[in-house]
Amino acid sequence: MQKLDESMKLALRNNICYFATCSKNGIPNVVPMGLVEVLDDSTIAIVDVLMKKTRKNLEENNNVAIAVTDVNRLVGYQFKGKASVITTGELMEWANEFVKKKHEKRKEILINRLKSEKDPEIISKIEKRINVMYKPKAVVIIKVEEIYKTM
Ligand SMILES: Cc1cc2nc3c(=O)[nH]c(=O)nc-3n(C[C@H](O)[C@H](O)[C@H](O)COP(=O)(O)O)c2cc1C
Repeated sequence: MQKLDESMKLALRNNICYFATCSKNGIPNVVPMGLVEVLDDSTIAIVDVLMKKTRKNLEENNNVAIAVTDVNRLVGYQFKGKASVITTGELMEWANEFVKKKHEKRKEILINRLKSEKDPEIISKIEKRINVMYKPKAVVIIKVEEIYKTM
């Protein structure tokens, strides 16, 4: 099993990651994920706030992949592994706090964006979204088995 290094951890924590799952019949599904944290050298957590097809696929097939690109640091990675879904206990408490912190950080960024944004369509989109905070439904735990550099 390969281990996550500091560059990989930074990329996962600070960028939108693309989470790929697959149905039992081999139909793939890939979605962007922002609520991503690295728990240890071989474990990634993604908080489920909106997942639908992703969760259905995870019930049928626990093989997953995550792709992330950090354009500022010129690195990109693909991680493959096995997922499990946790819906109770300490991890859910952690997820609640994690989502609150992420929400505050995102709000601060959006408030700053509003100061300089001129496009009324974008201003309206930001205003609609700025106070939306999602409630964690589960935490998807991914045990990383393979790592590939994509950049
Ligand atoms: C930038 C961005 C970040 C997102 N982050 C998350 C996330 O961390 N957790 C989550 O459950 N959904 C997140 N979503 C929503 C998912 O991408 C997706 O819409 C959701 O899982 C439903 O798709 P599915 O039915 O294929 O699972 C995010 C969407 C966007 C656009």
